[in-house]
Amino acid sequence: MSESLQALLHARFGETLDIPDDLAASPVARSIANHRTIRHYRDQPVSPALVRALCAVALSAPSKSDLQQCDIMVVQDPDQRARLAALLPDNPWAAKAPAFLVFCGDNARHRRIHDLRGHALVNDHLDAFFNPAVDAGIVLGTFIAAAEAIGLCTCPISAIRNHPEQVAEVLGLPVHVYPVAGLCLGWPAHNGAMSPRLGLTATVHVDRYNGTDLPAQIDEYDTRRNLTRPYRERRDDARFGADKPYGWSEDKARQYAAPERQGWGRFVKARGFKLD
Ligand SMILES: Cc1cc2nc3c(=O)[nH]c(=O)nc-3n(C[C@H](O)[C@H](O)[C@H](O)COP(=O)(O)O)c2cc1C
Repeated sequence: MSESLQALLHARFGETLDIPDDLAASPVARSIANHRTIRHYRDQPVSPALVRALCAVALSAPSKSDLQQCDIMVVQDPDQRARLAALLPDNPWAAKAPAFLVFCGDNARHRRIHDLRGHALVNDHLDAFFNPAVDAGIVLGTFIAAAEAIGLCTCPISAIRNHPEQVAEVLGLPVHVYPVAGLCLGWPAHNGAMSPRLGLTATVHVDRYNGTDLPAQIDEYDTRRNLTRPYRERRDDARFGADKPYGWSEDKARQYAAPERQGWGRFVKARGFKLD
């Protein structure tokens, strides 16, 4: 990668940032700033040793109260891979990726520790679900950063939560363990493309939250993003209108105007979590 950190962040956020020399010189920062999800992979395996080492790097990430409530399922068995892939018809890259993992929130271990040490778990409320989910998200992001640093590429798969009961059954997940996201892992078949983000004026606040300029910030982002990443497909023009201008905000509003993953809350409660 030859581009400077400043150029990468300009491409991402549309802003020329004043970047201190030590950060500008960091290969870690440049690799993370150059992130791109890639869904097509070379026909080249990722060795189990490399996957395991990446898991160790990722699980070195910080953990809420040091509770260590993320588990990574490495799915190697071809039959299990096929059963998971069958649940993901809209994500064919999940079947083709050389390696596939599932990042899980694990609150079962914590409960077991309470049993083993003979102390009642009195904080059996929303936090018991929330903390493992946050840990799993951090571990997932760290895994992606580590993988991309050595030229691998990934695609997270939240679509596994469309069928959580089946995923739990295939992976043998006990009560109080739940899938957060799958992850395709492989060597990239192409360079991918950078996906611009909302401007920092929308997402970085100093001292006090400020949402006053949001409509203008969204318009700016829709316009900037359409210059390099116009949507190739529009969602459900029959319902929402083919003549409407289309950009990120229209796509997201259309996406969440259609029912999706409505059994997720039921699944989480059935896993034994109290969400109050
Ligand atoms: C938690 C999570 C779940 C995701 N789930 C899916 C998915 O199910 N299928 C998919 O193709 N991409 C999925 N993605 C990838 C996002 O679509 C992608 O990150 C987003 O479009 C931004 O693009 P970028 O990662 O290249 O910057 C997911 C990403 C995250 C972080």
